[in-house]
Amino acid sequence: MSTNDREQWGSRLGFIMAAAGSAVGLGNIWRFPYVTGMNGGGAFVLIYLLIVFTIGASVMLAEMAIGRGAGLNAVGSFKKLRGGAWPLVGWMGVIAGFIILSFYGVVAGWTIAYMIKSFTGLMEVAAQGKAGDAFGAFVSNPTQVILYQAIFMLGTIWIVFRGIGEGIEKYCKVMMPALFLLLLVLIVRAVTLDGAMKGLEFYLKPDFSKVTGKTILDALGQGFFSLSLGMGCMITYGSYLSKDEALPSAAFTVTFLDTMVAFLAGFAIFPAVFAFNMEPAAGPGLTFITLPSVFSKMPMGAFFSFVFFLLLFFAAITSSVSLLEVCVAYFKDELGWDRAKASWILGLLIFLLGIPSALSLGGHFPKVLGKDFLDLMDYLSSNVLLPLGGIFISIFAGWIWLDGARAEATSNGRVQFAFETAWVWICRVVAPLAVAIIFIKGVKG
Ligand code: PHE
Repeated sequence: MSTNDREQWGSRLGFIMAAAGSAVGLGNIWRFPYVTGMNGGGAFVLIYLLIVFTIGASVMLAEMAIGRGAGLNAVGSFKKLRGGAWPLVGWMGVIAGFIILSFYGVVAGWTIAYMIKSFTGLMEVAAQGKAGDAFGAFVSNPTQVILYQAIFMLGTIWIVFRGIGEGIEKYCKVMMPALFLLLLVLIVRAVTLDGAMKGLEFYLKPDFSKVTGKTILDALGQGFFSLSLGMGCMITYGSYLSKDEALPSAAFTVTFLDTMVAFLAGFAIFPAVFAFNMEPAAGPGLTFITLPSVFSKMPMGAFFSFVFFLLLFFAAITSSVSLLEVCVAYFKDELGWDRAKASWILGLLIFLLGIPSALSLGGHFPKVLGKDFLDLMDYLSSNVLLPLGGIFISIFAGWIWLDGARAEATSNGRVQFAFETAWVWICRVVAPLAVAIIFIKGVKG
């Protein structure tokens, strides 16, 4: 296929919704609020904002520039723009896409199960303080977990199979505004509960005594995963963007939307958790155990529980399609597969690769290197592949392909942006160095 008949986003808004859809995911709704709470609340939020709007937005712009400059998938882009060993960076992205989607599909499947459970007994069980047991029983039931994982993966494959404009763009343009509305419903409910203030205080009161080196590294790591950076996702999405669109404002808008959803999620979660005297427990626990308990104590709890898991489902599927698209674009551009074949075959392979993760939580799959398989996959991708990808992508834009990156980011001088010099130096020095530090810490730790 020549680059001329490459699929394209129907509009700039469609591209922004799709890229924001990729960024806003499971990482925003449960991980950000929790990491914030544990890292000194408002103090962490300030550091996070500083990092995502400097390093995060810069790497995002670099990825979009590479993708649109080459008009190809992650591997093909590096091959076309420089060659040598650089396509390996794209390869790492494709592999990261496989791995992340394999376990992401498992957790996302839980959101579907929990939408249904909201109306079929979860509230009653949670009201008796047994949401933890219910979650344990659910994740140790292989048929259930794999069934919901399969349903979620079918949805993801279907959207990617429909293509860029008719699939990813169309669904993101509906699901992203819907997600935002649902989030507002939950926020209004949460902050009007008696005792909501305690939660807001826990979330927002800056406690600088909790800020350490690790806080900054946590903010950087959270920022990369949350913005979908380091694996060629924005390269792939950028490759479907028309040459007429300005990139810097797009990168900024996507960064802004992602950060806003993460920030707002805290307003939906903490006031509710504290109003009912629950512990702001970690990760999956907060989402699938603490929150059902909170909802079970509210009037119309089943409804609010459903709204929450629907929101989480929208967030997850608009991210999972971007993960699959990174892989599909590679097989399409480089190996000449058609979209249908690539979507179904790769989707199926990723589903199969996810089965050990699905089984691992109930102890039906042996631990590997002392970790549950799901945690191992998460660790390998978030702590190894994404940071490595991020380092090489910024070096590529800042040193190797600088003139091209500049030309692309400014649309050949037609778009001026005030931060051009800052952007170049962030790509050259700040991002590679900062990310190298998380990487070393991540691998050790
Ligand atoms: N950004 C997504 C989230 O926050 C996860 C993701 C990472 C998606 C990397 C695509 C690529 O959940």
